[in-house]
Amino acid sequence: MKIAVIGATGRTGIPFIRAAVANGHQVNALVRNATRFPVDLAAHANVTLVIGDIGSTALLVTDSDAVLIAVAAPDVGPTTVATDAVKAVAAAVAQGGAPRLSTVLLVSSDGVGSNISKHPFVYRNIIHPYVLFYTYQDLENAEIELRLLSESHPSVQHVIFRPPQIFSMDPVRDIFVLETGQDDVAEIASFSNQITYGDFGPLILTTLEAGTFLNKNLLVNSKTKLAELFDPRGAAKAAVTQAAARYAPRILLSTAIAVALVAIVAIQVRRRL
Ligand SMILES: NC(=O)c1ccc[n+]([C@@H]2O[C@H](COP(=O)([O-])OP(=O)(O)OC[C@H]3O[C@@H](n4cnc5c(N)ncnc54)[C@H](OP(=O)(O)O)[C@@H]3O)[C@@H](O)[C@H]2O)c1
Repeated sequence: MKIAVIGATGRTGIPFIRAAVANGHQVNALVRNATRFPVDLAAHANVTLVIGDIGSTALLVTDSDAVLIAVAAPDVGPTTVATDAVKAVAAAVAQGGAPRLSTVLLVSSDGVGSNISKHPFVYRNIIHPYVLFYTYQDLENAEIELRLLSESHPSVQHVIFRPPQIFSMDPVRDIFVLETGQDDVAEIASFSNQITYGDFGPLILTTLEAGTFLNKNLLVNSKTKLAELFDPRGAAKAAVTQAAARYAPRILLSTAIAVALVAIVAIQVRRRL
């Protein structure tokens, strides 16, 4: 399949492209500054670089079967970058400029939609409204535009990924998706957990290849976190194990001191007898 990537130099885009070419797909990568794109991928026979910004989207999707939108502004100020990317894809589709396009993959966030009600207090009341407000507003608008695109052009379906915090480039194989449907609310609670970019990029590709979750919102999280949420007894057991690991050295030391003290007292008592 030929896959266009908007945000090809990003931390989500790069592992996705690596996974895609490893599986034999061809990639049209939108790159504003070629020096930010890995040299080995730029030289890869399956990768075509399209130098430009979101204004070059039409060129990017003209012969693509799918497009990944994984863009982020460089700071947390007002932005419309994700919404603009979706609108650019929609414009290309509306003008008949993307005849093969069947799937649009959007990387959003688990801070978008009514799942925010399931987040921890500090996140809900400080980070969401005061730190990441504009980012979430942009992603929320991008999601709306994407649903409109699929409604007006049913041959173009989408998948919206809502990850939690993403931190490392390493794959750790601890990732899971949960379909939440159009109304956003998942049955499970708060996500203060993290995933890695190394797991996330390949997961997006696997979802595309499988053709699953079309026109769905997917909450992304770690399997470990999900297991805890679904298995409180398992979580309690894990908590006990963790506590034991943390406190075992202190308990051992205290026991050793107590035994030594008892031994000293016993020796003193014996001497006096
Ligand atoms: N990072 C997290 O913890 C986290 C958590 C949840 C959700 N997300 C979401 O995941 C998505 C991807 O995030 P990320 O961490 O992979 O982003 P990233 O590493 O910061 O990469 C952002 C990408 O967007 C591109 N970009 C920015 N403005 C552009 C423009 N005007 N035209 C074309 N390209 C532009 C950048 O290109 P340049 O290299 O040219 O700047 C870069 O390729 C975002 O929507 C983000 O909100 C991230």
